[in-house]
Amino acid sequence: MAKHHVTATVNGDAVEFLCETQETLLDCLRDQLGLTGTKEGCSTGDCGACSVTVDGRLVCSCLMLGVEANGKSVATIEGMARDGELHPIQQAFHEHHGLQCGYCTPGMIMAAASLIAENSDLTEESVRMGLEGNLCRCTGYQNIVKAILAAAEEMHAPASSR
Ligand code: FES
Ligand code: FES
Repeated sequence: MAKHHVTATVNGDAVEFLCETQETLLDCLRDQLGLTGTKEGCSTGDCGACSVTVDGRLVCSCLMLGVEANGKSVATIEGMARDGELHPIQQAFHEHHGLQCGYCTPGMIMAAASLIAENSDLTEESVRMGLEGNLCRCTGYQNIVKAILAAAEEMHAPASSR
């Protein structure tokens, strides 16, 4: 079967890869581009482990075809840390023990980044609602929510008070 040639931007870098029509974006990220931080939990859009952003919108990469990423800008967990420094959300997960096995963590962090970017006044309730598409089998929600609230506070604080 003929493969499709896809060109896209992933974490700010221009990339190109070949993929079959039915290959998901998740498989392309992991198998074609070696970006294995994005996890596969259910393959049916139910767990959020595969969350990435495409043109700034949070998506389940298991529900999107690789060919649909052509010409688009994709962000994955690998693009969060910069110059050896953890992203504030990653740092908050570390400080507030927001992970156990870590399998859901990349998706949680990508979902949290979207949530924080879209809301300047997050509460515990709105974080819990915002994360309803992300499941943690270790059930560490309490600390995940704490970490996201702490990261939101830091990221929305005026630069002078940081
Ligand atoms: S692997 Fe995509 S939502 Fe579970
Ligand atoms: S930390 Fe194990 S699934 Fe969430």
